[in-house]
Amino acid sequence: MISKSTIDRVFEASRVEEVLGDFVNLKKSGSNYKGLSPFSDERTPSFMVSPVKQIWKDFSSGKGGNVVAFLMEHEHFTYPEAIKYLAKKYNIEVEETEQSQEQKEQADERESMYLVSEFAAKYFQNNLLKTELGKAIGLSYFRERGFTDETIKKFGLGYCLDEWDAFTSEAIRKGYKLEFLEKTGLTIVKGEKQFDRFKGRVMFPIQSMSGRVLGFGGRILTNDKKAAKYLNSPESEIYHKSKVLYGIYHAKQAIAKEDNCYLVEGYTDVIQFNQSGIENVVSSSGTSLTPEQIRLINRLTKNITVLFDSDAAGQRASIRGIDLILEQGMNVKVCAFPEGEDPDSFAKKNSEDEIQLYLRNNSKDFINYKASLLMEEAKNDPVKKASLIRDMVSSISKIPDNIQQEVYVQETSRIMDISEEVLFTTLAQLSGNKTGKAAPRKTKSLEVVRDETTPGEKVDELYVLERTIISLLLLYGSLEEEFEDLVVKMDEDGKMVLEPEVQKSKVYEKVFLDLQEDEVAFANEHFQKIYQEVINRYNAEEDFSLEGFINEMALENASEITTILMEEEQYVLHDWQRMDIFVKGKNEGIGRLVNETILSLRRYLVNQKINELNQEIKEVPAEDSPGILQDIMDYLSLKKVLSNKLNRVM
Ligand code: CTP
Ligand code: MN
Repeated sequence: MISKSTIDRVFEASRVEEVLGDFVNLKKSGSNYKGLSPFSDERTPSFMVSPVKQIWKDFSSGKGGNVVAFLMEHEHFTYPEAIKYLAKKYNIEVEETEQSQEQKEQADERESMYLVSEFAAKYFQNNLLKTELGKAIGLSYFRERGFTDETIKKFGLGYCLDEWDAFTSEAIRKGYKLEFLEKTGLTIVKGEKQFDRFKGRVMFPIQSMSGRVLGFGGRILTNDKKAAKYLNSPESEIYHKSKVLYGIYHAKQAIAKEDNCYLVEGYTDVIQFNQSGIENVVSSSGTSLTPEQIRLINRLTKNITVLFDSDAAGQRASIRGIDLILEQGMNVKVCAFPEGEDPDSFAKKNSEDEIQLYLRNNSKDFINYKASLLMEEAKNDPVKKASLIRDMVSSISKIPDNIQQEVYVQETSRIMDISEEVLFTTLAQLSGNKTGKAAPRKTKSLEVVRDETTPGEKVDELYVLERTIISLLLLYGSLEEEFEDLVVKMDEDGKMVLEPEVQKSKVYEKVFLDLQEDEVAFANEHFQKIYQEVINRYNAEEDFSLEGFINEMALENASEITTILMEEEQYVLHDWQRMDIFVKGKNEGIGRLVNETILSLRRYLVNQKINELNQEIKEVPAEDSPGILQDIMDYLSLKKVLSNKLNRVM
């Protein structure tokens, strides 16, 4: 268990905008930050981060919460994993309270797999840099390839000794369990025997966006035609090859900064580019690109440039990738390298300026690229040319944006010398074929998320009022405000009159006492839970902190609360404008707003009660109606009082 004081220190140090900034490209927007949702395929940013409130809200998926909730949602960390991650980021020493043997054994399986992988990476690196064999075989190989020591360290490259189980037995000696060595694929277990999967290979650790080691690629050093050149970690609980991009950890900042991502095929392409000074580069590691991988990039930039060797296999693979990228609404360029070169060999031979120049001059948008590539073969063959044009239109049909589609149709028409009309007809046919799938995605940015339990028009007012009260409580609960109220007084002639009286009280007290008067319970279940929780907190500790509250909130309520908090600024201002209240400062007029909302809610409920009673009176026997009638009269006079007060406030 992590100690309470460590957790407190972690929360104190963590800045939600810094932590999330490692995963999402955030742009300043007023007092908040905005970015593309990392949880969906959106093209209009609806992911908001509030540095003031230290929360985030994803309006496209409805998720939201504090910094830990993000790590749990996004990285699939457990709570302790998230705390440890933050502690590492902010250099906070993690204090563990005593763990029983049993607890130790129950420690999360995934965490164990991460730890084994972390250990393996260090062990392989140590082999490479410190052992005689490692230096003679592994290190000299990497140096031969032109990697500097700095680069080798940056990418954590390593070497697995050419022995059957040197790594496995060392890991076991260090206390790592065979179970996890096997689950991560580092060790192959055959009956009683254990073998190192990567025996005799140089090692490329594969890291997540946040820098954790997920798996490895191992390159063979001999020219054995029968053995695979690269061997990779098998799929496991922590390594899903369709969801990782080699190099993303080192590239993410540069990708966002350059607003472009170079996509290459191999480990060494990534490394060589980095060494040349071009850091916005990742690799799909030989597999064909997956939508999940593209989504990783999409969070950081809209622009991908696919780089590949000039051999035909590579080109065909990359054409499939292009359509997938287009489908996600991203812009694709393609750059082929000269005959016999891949990005690695090209970068090794040329300076950064030369590489940049080459990339600038040879990157083509996908239409021009396809045209140039296929024109070679199709030049004098009308059948081939037609099929090429269909292929281009097919790619265009993947683009979600209509305007962009049109621009590309024009471009295709020009290059291929064919009328736009024909192209549009073909496009329409192709688009028609994928009905359903191509339905336009709704942009839900800043839409109020309605609770399923309150459908229909009538309940909306109630929903809005309840929500407003929750929001006022959360934001201004502990503020001391002046509330004007009408109280019954005797005038000089002994008549009862209503007179205004100003009372000072805390917002939460005002809300609590006023609502208690009518025994108001919230119709919305979520709100009722949150209300009770918040009121209890305020009653327990005077200077209740919102941050602490959010940090301890259950995930399902955190989402509702963050929605409210993120919308607060807009809607409060909006309400003030509607009411013609002149707002001087942020907190000006809170008292009025609180009063108005409570009164409106009470009036709404009283009205509801009157309607119910009116219904009831029609259905009961005549002798019961006087009693009900009296109730109705009482409620009507209460409604009048409330309306009076409300008119004064507004
Ligand atoms: N790859 C793989 N398994 C193989 C061959 C390749 O996983 N048997 C992956 C590796 O990620 C490799 C990428 O595909 O980096 C590209 O393959 P290739 O172009 O053959 O290798 P290079 O990266 O050029 O490797 P090297 O320069 O070391 O020969
Ligand atoms: Mn190569």
